[in-house]
Amino acid sequence: MSSPLDSSPSPTVTEAITSRRSVRAFLPKPVPEETVREMLTTASRSASGGNLQPWRVYVLAGDARDALVDEVARRQATSPFGDGPEYDIYPRELSEPYKTRRGRVAHMMYERMGIARDDREARAAAMGRNFRFFDAPVGMIISIDHQMGPPQFSDLGIFLQSLMLLARERGLHTCPQEAWSMWGKTIRDVVGVPEHELVFCGLALGYADSESAVNSLHSERAPLEEFAQLRGF
Ligand SMILES: Cc1cc2nc3c(=O)[nH]c(=O)nc-3n(C[C@H](O)[C@H](O)[C@H](O)COP(=O)(O)O)c2cc1C
Repeated sequence: MSSPLDSSPSPTVTEAITSRRSVRAFLPKPVPEETVREMLTTASRSASGGNLQPWRVYVLAGDARDALVDEVARRQATSPFGDGPEYDIYPRELSEPYKTRRGRVAHMMYERMGIARDDREARAAAMGRNFRFFDAPVGMIISIDHQMGPPQFSDLGIFLQSLMLLARERGLHTCPQEAWSMWGKTIRDVVGVPEHELVFCGLALGYADSESAVNSLHSERAPLEEFAQLRGF
């Protein structure tokens, strides 16, 4: 499924939700620090169980962003699989329908990029673009204290969604990136994330490259009947 990327600022929550998509090619246009501060402050109004506000955010731009990207590129030569995972991104035995959904979006993405199923080198290179924040000028690292569990991880998700929608309101796009959890030690070394925090994900933030084929990917969703049961109406 392809549909043109909508990069105009979204005036309503509904439009912010429907125009959000994971953008994997950004323009070099910078995002002002004030914009990022305002987005983070507003996103901190997100709900969290017990008001723990468990999100920890490290925002990298300019030299700070480049320092992480460059160090990962350097270490990748000897550690192609990163530092070792911070957590299992997916269940080891992913059952249906989840397995098919995961395969389907990967297939659609590589198809947009013109990469064949068996072209491992091109796939690895495409995956590697995660570690350049897909050329976004701002990269965030989102972490959480190690003592936290599933309820607080859901709080992180709520916070992330707030950030992604606030980005759309400002004509910006994002890509959440669990891929960064492969590089926890390097992130600790370069960014100074303390040992007692787990690196959950990254978030690329910037202006989308609307010419890029990968950004035409409009991922599928299961119909309402597949995930919801409405009773008593
Ligand atoms: C927490 C989280 C982590 C993700 N990690 C990555 C990632 O590392 N790299 C990537 O390209 N996409 C990543 N994605 C994007 C998903 O692949 C994407 O959300 C999904 O395919 C649905 O597509 P959409 O976001 O365009 O609607 C992540 C999404 C979430 C919510």
